[in-house]
Amino acid sequence: MILNVNGSRHEVQEGTRTLLEVLRDDLGLVGTKEGCGVGMCGACTVLVDGRPISGCLILAEQVVGKEILTVEGLEKNGQLHPIQQAFIDERAFQCAYCTPGFILSTAALLNENPNPSEDEIREYLSGNLCRCGSYQNILKAVLRAHQRV
Ligand code: FES
Ligand code: FES
Repeated sequence: MILNVNGSRHEVQEGTRTLLEVLRDDLGLVGTKEGCGVGMCGACTVLVDGRPISGCLILAEQVVGKEILTVEGLEKNGQLHPIQQAFIDERAFQCAYCTPGFILSTAALLNENPNPSEDEIREYLSGNLCRCGSYQNILKAVLRAHQRV
């Protein structure tokens, strides 16, 4: 089957595997992380047709024909995406395991709502967990990013 990932078509083996497994194991896109594996942490968040989806909860075969965006697909021509840069500028991570998921959820949020309030940011990102507790800096990063996107 063919998956459209980060603007390119990829042929991957048929089989009952999650999107997370295919992205990491077949395509080497290891920016998408496995945390809980059961849809609770958001570490595996990717965008499917612009909407944040937990890669651990969806089968790869379910997203055939859709546009999948992983954190690797955000930078353009060697330039980090403004959201990525904002996370660096605000030091919005410690171990950074949660960061790709937060960045992709933020991208979806700012597409839907370019000028979110702090409460709207907290609500939208509530499915992404940070075990290092970097929430305050993540909030600052999203606020900084929305001025640039
Ligand atoms: S690994 Fe998918 S939500 Fe936690
Ligand atoms: S920075 Fe470590 S889990 Fe978020």
